[in-house]
Amino acid sequence: MPDDNLSSQYYSAIAIEHFQNPRNVGEIVDSDVEGQVVNPVCGDEVKFFFRLRKNKDAQERVIESVSFQASGCPATIATSSIATEMLIGLSLSEASQLTRLDYAEAVGGLPKSKQHCSVLAEAVVQQAVTNLRLKDQSSMKETT
Ligand code: FES
Repeated sequence: MPDDNLSSQYYSAIAIEHFQNPRNVGEIVDSDVEGQVVNPVCGDEVKFFFRLRKNKDAQERVIESVSFQASGCPATIATSSIATEMLIGLSLSEASQLTRLDYAEAVGGLPKSKQHCSVLAEAVVQQAVTNLRLKDQSSMKETT
C-alpha cells in the first residue's frame, strides 16, 4: 500500500519525524492508570501509561507524565507520540476532549487511507478515563 511508504509524498515532515523518533516510549512502572486499545480491523495496538498529580488548587488530577507502547503503522506511532506531548499538564477531562482530528492535525495531517489510525490515540485516552473512574469507585467502596 503506498501510504505505508514513509515518503513525504504521503506523510508530513512532523509525522515522519515522530514516527522515526517517537517521544515518551515505554512503560511507566508505577503508573496511576493505563489504557489499551486494539484496532480490530488491522490489529494495531496501543497502550498508554499515565502518572497523575493533584495540584493544590486544581479540582482534578492532572497528567504529570504519559508514555506509550505501540505495535502499528507509522500513523499510529506518530499520532501516539504527539498525543503524549499534547496530554502532559491536562486534566483527564481536558484530555478526553481531544479528538482524533486534533492528533491528526498536530502531526500535520494524515494520508486519506490512514486517517482512521488516529482513532487509537483518542480511544486509549477515553479508555484510561473510564479505567480511572472504575478504579476510584472501587477504592471508594473499599473505604466505606
Ligand atoms: Fe491500523 Fe493504522 S493501519 S491503525
